[in-house]
This record gives sequence, structure tokens and C-alpha cells, in this order.
Amino acid sequence: MPMPASDNPSASMPRDAGSLTLPHKLSLLSGASFWRTAAIAPAGIRPLVLSDGPHGIRRPHNEDEPGLGNSIEATCFPAECLTACSWDPELLAQLGAATAREAAAAGVDVVLGPGLNIKRTPLCGRNFEYFSEDPLLAGELGAAWVRAVQAQGVAACPKHFAANNQEADRMRIDASVDDRTLREIYLKAFETVVRSARPWSLMAAYNKINGIHAAENPWLLDTVLRGDWGFDGVVVSDWGAVTDRAAALDAGLDLEMPASNGLGLAELEAGLDAGTINRDMVDASVARLLQLAARTASPAREPVDPEAHHRLARDAAARSMVLLKNQGGILPLSPKLRLAVVGELARTPRFQGAGSSQVNPTRISVPLDVLAEGFTAVSFAAGYRLDGESEEALVSEAETAAAAADAVLFFLGLPEEKESEGFDRPDLTLPADQLQSLAAVLAANPWTVVVLFNGGAVETSWASDVPAVLEAWLPGQACGEALADVLTGAVNPSGKLAETFPHRIEDTPAFGNYPGESGTVRYGEGIFVGYRWYDARRMEPAFPFGHGLSYTSFGYSGLALKTAESDEGQMVSVRLTVRNTGSCAGAEVIQLYVGAPGGTAPAAPRELRAFRKVYLEPDATADVAFDLPLAALARFDPAAHRWTADPGGYRIDVGSSSRDIRLSGSLELPGTGAEPTGQLSLDSTIAEWLANPRGQRVLGALAAEAAGGAGETGAAETGAAETGAGEAGGLAGALSLMGSLPLRRLARFPGSPLTPSILAGLEQAVRGPETGQGASTDA
Ligand code: BGC
Repeated sequence: MPMPASDNPSASMPRDAGSLTLPHKLSLLSGASFWRTAAIAPAGIRPLVLSDGPHGIRRPHNEDEPGLGNSIEATCFPAECLTACSWDPELLAQLGAATAREAAAAGVDVVLGPGLNIKRTPLCGRNFEYFSEDPLLAGELGAAWVRAVQAQGVAACPKHFAANNQEADRMRIDASVDDRTLREIYLKAFETVVRSARPWSLMAAYNKINGIHAAENPWLLDTVLRGDWGFDGVVVSDWGAVTDRAAALDAGLDLEMPASNGLGLAELEAGLDAGTINRDMVDASVARLLQLAARTASPAREPVDPEAHHRLARDAAARSMVLLKNQGGILPLSPKLRLAVVGELARTPRFQGAGSSQVNPTRISVPLDVLAEGFTAVSFAAGYRLDGESEEALVSEAETAAAAADAVLFFLGLPEEKESEGFDRPDLTLPADQLQSLAAVLAANPWTVVVLFNGGAVETSWASDVPAVLEAWLPGQACGEALADVLTGAVNPSGKLAETFPHRIEDTPAFGNYPGESGTVRYGEGIFVGYRWYDARRMEPAFPFGHGLSYTSFGYSGLALKTAESDEGQMVSVRLTVRNTGSCAGAEVIQLYVGAPGGTAPAAPRELRAFRKVYLEPDATADVAFDLPLAALARFDPAAHRWTADPGGYRIDVGSSSRDIRLSGSLELPGTGAEPTGQLSLDSTIAEWLANPRGQRVLGALAAEAAGGAGETGAAETGAAETGAGEAGGLAGALSLMGSLPLRRLARFPGSPLTPSILAGLEQAVRGPETGQGASTDA
């Protein structure tokens, strides 16, 4: 594998920005080329090299070009849409380590990945670069990858932070998302990765969030990322995401990429002159960049073995592919069969996604070639063209080949032109000519297995006529070998869907709220994304989240639930046993879903809270233990700005998919503690005042005063609550009829006893120190 010479001199980095001049410092805050940061040789500051990511290294030969289609050779590992289906953090760690080895050998300091955005709509053209519709799965897999990359001394750069969930108008679209949905769904995977894997850098997205560009958003970058989560790395802009460099610096964005023709520098200088930014902000960003240089100064530099990495790509793909359907046990196929391989995609496989992540593979194992070697008799028919132009002759050839064979392998999928970074798909359908060819082949030979190549969920009504479907997603450069491994049973499939396959686009969560209008896309479905949506609406998906078959079977038994105290506070303990009840070895993903008590806030029927993959020989059993802190079951309370697990009955579902629940139980949990009611104000409702002990005392004092005349004015809060209990109760009864009325507005009703100065007194009484004085009134 040819690699450019190293760019990482071992010279030690000055960690203190103080010794640099202001122009030097400013020069570090924007890229020096497409892929490098600036160097300051006299100060010993080297350039940092950044490369895509996420499923292999794309290091362009020329620093001054985007380099699409012109990068060094690197192993093309399976795309995230496939590796996510492994549900196997250990596998993601192996992929991360291998990617980092290749990065270090190529002189790359920062790998631009993993993609952590949530699959809000299956139409997003970039879903192949993201893990899942579920933030727990995306976060756990992403964290494993990041840890492994950085263990090699190379920085990971999780992207695209945040709410970059569509390619349609991606540079400008304003994602309008409520706080709870952001925290629970769209920020959660980033939070998990930041807190548990401590990435050294992170990429701010192109889009706006609630009106402000992500790259210039102080709430996102400063309050949440650095403040709430403790991120101490470098925030890099997506390529071209900055519109105002000074505003971006003010928000906490350290590095604008790529070089901006001097515009970024000019905006920083103007901002300093105008006082909208200051030198401390510059110093803070420079210090973080120098820290990144120090962190990546001595990568492990383990030798790269392209053959070993190709084997890892094969293993990862085979362990992740999802057997969607296998009627009559048609798979695995015996190599003795006379096999007809149909579909141009068998000869010209779509093994990775299009756009900035496109790797120049070290080699490609073509499915048709591998199958031709592995089976005793193989015929081939193209069946269709990849450009979608229908050709009758290709269909008749396919029919003839199918009729003469024992079994058919039909390769179906989305051609590159249909799915890419930069645009979304208009619909969920596969090309019509491919489906026509499939129908003709099925009529000629119903013993037909479909292999699917695609980066996002597709419409699958055609599957009802097909006995077996293997979802291969975008399997990377070892696609042929990995497919043969699974189709012949050398590898028992164990992949589980990381995203729901809907029947129709009209069933999907974002339908009606996508792609937005007048520049804004409203996330109207809230937290009900992916399976949360289909479950809440009791809608049947075509293939549910978590689904995936095996050549063996698994039995679940012995669910035991209890709560236990630990150093982390109260824990939920879930125990069960899984047994391989079939005749071959295989792996099962045990999925733990929890349904929180409803009532206080909308709740999804079940949410993935833990998962474990276990490998079992036939008849072997595994005891599976999950221990979850209550905090892991919490929802985000936007009013109180904190995570809360409500007290009440929690439903625990353990299953082989989100719709194949094998064991269920429930637990009464105390919750994470009473919610502080927050500070009462005149905009708090009457019900909120009455629910707050102090608010009730203050209102009680007022009621007692009103009932007892001037002599009671100034009664102690507590005393008033006691002596005036009857009156307070009466008032409370009356007031609770109007519980939803903010106190301030009560003053506007004819005959209301509340004057502006009484209101002011109430507010003062409830907010001030507990002096024992009631509301002072002028009544
Ligand atoms: C993409 C990023 C990528 C960057 C550099 C952008 O267009 O959104 O994911 O890392 O280009 O290639």
C-alpha cells in the first residue's frame, strides 16, 4: 500500500499559546489547505493532517484539492450502515484500531469520523455513513470506535454535530427541534461518545439548529458540548460550514476547514477590532489546537498489513450482514448446487457509499468471481443495467439462466447515482427495471435468494414473493468473500437491523415534516423516531428494528428482575439465560428494552437501554446480566433542564428484536428523586404554586389575610398556613379549578383580589429568604 512520507515530526509542541504573536495565532484558526492546518516552523508547530473517514482513510494525493476519486490506497471497510448491524462494540474497536494504523502510516493526525447522526428519515442520502435510528446503539458503537482509534495516538472526529439528518439543503436548513428531543435523540449519541471516549476533536455540522448555524452556535458548542459534557478537544467546522468566523470563534469553534481564501482571517481581525471577540478566545482555541498536536504527536505506528486488514473487512462484513428472511431454510446454499447468479451488481458490486467517504480500496473481491470459485456450477446473467435503462434481452437471458439452475442468487440494489452524500432519495423504491427482472426470474425459478446492496432502508414489498433475503448493505472491499461466507454457512449470520424498514414512506416518522419548507424543517415527531414511532402507533413495519435471523435458534428463559444499591446509587438488575437451541454455532444479540411509566411526559412504549452479543455452540447456554443505573432510564425534563427518571412501574422487555420480545416483566422504581419545582414566578400557574410547599404557604397567608382582615397582614408564612388552614383550603379548592392559569393573569379578571402590588409581594415572599414573613400586601 503506497503511503506518503510521514508528516509527524517528533518535535515537541509548545503547549502554551503565550509565546506566539497574534498573527501566528490567528493563522492557526483556519486551514492552510484542503486537508492541513498551518505550520509555524520557528515555534516548532507542525501542520495537522485531517482525512475522511469513517470506513477507511481517504487521504487525497493533492493537499490543495478535495481529492474525490484521487486518494491513496486504503482498506475500504464496510460502511457504518452495515457495521452497526453487528451490534458488536468489540468489532467496532477492531475496525477503529485498523483504521488508525492506516491513518498513522499515512501521516494522518485526525480521522473524520465516526458519523453519529440519527437516521430520522430513510430518505437521507447519507444514512450509510451513520449507525442507527437509535442513540444508544449509535453511541455505544461510536464510542468503541473512537476509543480504539485514539488508543493508537490518532484523533477521531465524531460528526456532524448536530441534527444533520438530511442532505436536502444541508448547508442551510434550519432544524427546528425541541430540547427534550435534542437531548434524548439527536445529541445523545454524541454525549455518550464525548463522555465515555473523550474524542480529541469533533466536527460542527453545516445546518442550523433552532435558527443558529451549528458551527456558530454557542448553546451547542459551549453550553452543551464543553459545559455540560466536559469536552476538552478541538471543534472543527465541516468543510465550508462557517459563514462568520468571528461568530464561530465566539461560539467555541476552534478550527475552520478548509482554507478560506483569507476570509476567515479577515473576519477574525475585524471581530477583534470591533470587540465582538477577544484575545482570550483566540488563546483558548490555539491552546486546544496545540493540545491536539501534542495528543497526536506520537502515534503507535504499528506496521500495516493490507492482507490482515482485508481479512478484517471480510470478517466485519460477514458478522454484520442481516438475514431478513429465510423461508424453508433455503439458506445456507450447498456448494454442490447449480447456481445462477443474476444481476449486474454481482459483477459490479456497490460496496461503499458515494461522496467524501469514498475510499480507494486496496483490492475488491467481486461476488461473481468468488461464487464462481466456490460453487461447482455457476452461470451468470446481468439481468439489468446499472443506468436503469431497461433492456429486454437482459431479462430473457436471466430467465433462461434461472430456469436451468437449481437455485438463483439475485443481486438487487441502489446504484450509486440513486444514493449519495449531497442529496436525498426521492422515494424508497429500488430501480423498476431491477424489480421487473427479479419478477421474471422468480417466475422461472422460485428457488431464488435476493442479496441486497443499499445504504439506507428500501421498500421491500417484492420480498413477499422471495423465499430468502440477505441484507448486505455496503459491505466494503471484501464484499464477495463475506457474502460467500454467509450464503454458504461458513459464517452464521448474526446481524440485526439498526434501522426500521417501513412498508411505505407515508408510515415513516418524519413524513409530513420533511424536507421542510422556507428553509426550516420541523422535527414534529419529537422523540418518536424509528421504532419508537412504529411502536407508539402500533404500526407494522416491513422489518423491525433489531430484526435478523440466524441459521440456528435461541431460547430465552429465567428472567429475574430486582433493584440493588451500588456506589452509583440504585441499580436495576436484569438476569436471564440464553441457549442455542439449534444445530449450529451462532451469535445472538440480546436486546433490553424499557418502557417508562407514562403520565408525566409522553413516553415511547419501549426504548433500547442495553444490548449484548453472545456467541454459543449448539446446546450451550449463557447467563446474561445487565445492571443499569436509574439514570440510564431517564428522560430529559426541559423545564427543569435535567434528566429525570420518574417513579412508577417500568416495563422490562428482553428480545431478539424490538418486535420479538421473548421475556417481559415489570419493576416498581423510585425514580431519581423528587423534581425540584424550580423557582416560582408570576408566570407559574396556580397549580404550580399550590404544588410547591412554599408557594402554598404564601398563597395560604394571603388567603388567611383576606379572610381575617387587616389584623392578619404580615402573618408568618407557616403560621398563616396553620391558622388559616380552612380559608387556605377553600381558596385552594377554588384556585384549583383554574389550575392552569398563570398567577399574573388572575389579576386581570374582574373582581380579582390581586392588585399589581399584591402580586409583587407574592413573588417577593416566595423568592426571598424564608424569613417567616408572609406576603406583604397593600390590601
Ligand atoms: C462532509 C464531511 C467530510 C468533509 C471533508 C464534508 O462535505 O460533510 O463529512 O468530512 O466534507 O471531506
